Amino acid sequence: MNEREQELKNKIDPENIPHHVAIIMDGNGRWAAEKGLPRHEGHRQGVETVRSTVRNSSDLGIGILTLFAFSTENWQRPVREVNYLMSLPEKYFQTELPELMRNNVRVRLIGDSKRLPRKVQKAVNDGAEKTKNNTGMVLNFALNYGSRAEILMAVNKMIEDAASGRLKGKINENIFSSYLYTAGLPDPDLLIRTSGEQRISNFLLWQLAYSELWFTDVYWPDFSMFHLLVAVDGYQQRKRRFGKI
Ligand code: IPE
Ligand code: IPE
Ligand code: MG
Repeated sequence: MNEREQELKNKIDPENIPHHVAIIMDGNGRWAAEKGLPRHEGHRQGVETVRSTVRNSSDLGIGILTLFAFSTENWQRPVREVNYLMSLPEKYFQTELPELMRNNVRVRLIGDSKRLPRKVQKAVNDGAEKTKNNTGMVLNFALNYGSRAEILMAVNKMIEDAASGRLKGKINENIFSSYLYTAGLPDPDLLIRTSGEQRISNFLLWQLAYSELWFTDVYWPDFSMFHLLVAVDGYQQRKRRFGKI
């Protein structure tokens, strides 16, 4: 940690670290374009930021980190870009598993994994399997994730379960939540989106109902411990009311 980061860190209340942080990692393409590089160079650098952000989040005491890595809408990108993005999970886990184990991080996948290429499913499932007994930070990778698709998946599963008698009576919020990919996890306290865009882009629509939203202009490849600390500090200045006064 450099001096500037240490100063911010000292300002932060360790008792009020957001337990669940979700991040829309955006701006890889523009980061590359501004440097005159092809878009995939932005994605390559974006993976480096994933590595450092996982480490930094775990060091800060964040309990759950949910990273939006590929949306159900991202299939509409050029095939070459989609293929490049689909090559990244394998590379990430190949090099990062020892570090994830050292940091006691538990990996999970959220999204419709059946539509992902086999090698991606295998890489993430292996990562989840190998880290399943870790007791530190939970790291959710949202891959082929779309919130509307998730909600429909949940509704259809509830209809099935009701028909077979596994689900009885009226659906309440707890039951509904338990059918989502994020079952068992508390909702995000803080959502960060990089790159200056101020939208949700079909991410965690149900789960973000009461999250604090933090938008920063910095492109994802440039997102550092400093920016994470600024976001957490900003979060700590907020007064969460949940409808109360
Ligand atoms: C985020 O960066 C990565 C993914 C969505 C997979 P982008 O690729 O969206 O970068 P911009 O928004 O085009 O700059
Ligand atoms: C959201 O970013 C998806 C991910 C970060 C994986 P996009 O770049 O796809 O979002 P839009 O298209 O600008 O809304
Ligand atoms: Mg984008």
